Amino acid sequence: MSKITALPNSVDATETLLAAGAYVADRSLATALYLALKLGRPLFLEGEAGVGKTEIAKVLAECLDRDLIRLQCYEGLDVSSAVYEWNYARQMIEIRLAEATGDTGGRTGRAALTRDVFSEEFLIKRPLLQALEPRDSGPPVLLIDELDRTDEPFEAFLLEVLSDFQITIPEIGVFGADRPPIVVITSNRTREIHDALKRRCFYYWVDYPDAERELEILGKKAPEAGEALRRDVVAFIQKLRDVDLFKLPGVAESIDWAQALAQLDVVALEPDTLNATLGTLLKYQDDIERIRGSEAMRILDEIRTEASLNRVRGS
Ligand SMILES: Nc1ncnc2c1ncn2[C@@H]1O[C@H](COP(=O)(O)OP(=O)(O)O)[C@@H](O)[C@H]1O
Ligand SMILES: [Mg+2]
Repeated sequence: MSKITALPNSVDATETLLAAGAYVADRSLATALYLALKLGRPLFLEGEAGVGKTEIAKVLAECLDRDLIRLQCYEGLDVSSAVYEWNYARQMIEIRLAEATGDTGGRTGRAALTRDVFSEEFLIKRPLLQALEPRDSGPPVLLIDELDRTDEPFEAFLLEVLSDFQITIPEIGVFGADRPPIVVITSNRTREIHDALKRRCFYYWVDYPDAERELEILGKKAPEAGEALRRDVVAFIQKLRDVDLFKLPGVAESIDWAQALAQLDVVALEPDTLNATLGTLLKYQDDIERIRGSEAMRILDEIRTEASLNRVRGS
């Protein structure tokens, strides 16, 4: 994989950068990313699960040759997991040692010891703090993944960090980044993220790809599936996304499905293997029940009819 270390200086260059990481982006995404990088603003990516949001940050880090620092969000995420925490165990040992050697005597002894155990040496740095540290490879890519899983107080805290890229640790002082990290925030939109935070960022809605783009993605990510199979998979999935399902298949699922079918030596979709492999595509029993059998046949017939119509038109 080619390494491009400097930030891209045009939308074209941004497209090239993403392509180098086997990421198929449309023009609007490349533009949003380019502007976010150029203006030093966080990129806020929202969209359904499995549409390629997290991958953008990974590709960015890899192709720019930067460290990737990932903060995976979850309910109850707090400062001690996201920013820093004191290494209590080591602090205790230090204090015991000082007691044993008699270094804690008097006011000055105690003050020195307090200064000592609340120094950087006893600090456990978590992702947000790590992202502010200078690195030889340049500012890292900070991925704040699935922000919608956290709660609002954490969001408010994050807003503060993102506005001036500094974190105050009462016992030590202010940690600030000379050169701020490249920030990518993702949300699966299980709840709305506050406007104030979105306002700090470049916002981009990552949609399901159209057929052409999805075909290109499969060409890169599931080349073991033959061309005819890849076309079938994409056509089927594109139709499936129009059905009212509990959870629509994302790009992740189409890649999985194409790979699974290739493993079974399938060259083109047919009902038996289709029904047998629905579990790579749909992750809820109700959805599988709904599609398996006649509905799957209906969609398959539809794509066969459309394919032959296209052939007639094309010839
Ligand atoms: N545009 C794309 N180009 C290449 N691969 C993609 C693209 N979109 C999604 N993928 C692939 O789909 C999978 C899921 O992507 P991911 O970033 O984890 O989704 P999300 O974070 O939106 O849930 C990954 O394996 C990724 O490589
Ligand atoms: Mg993700």
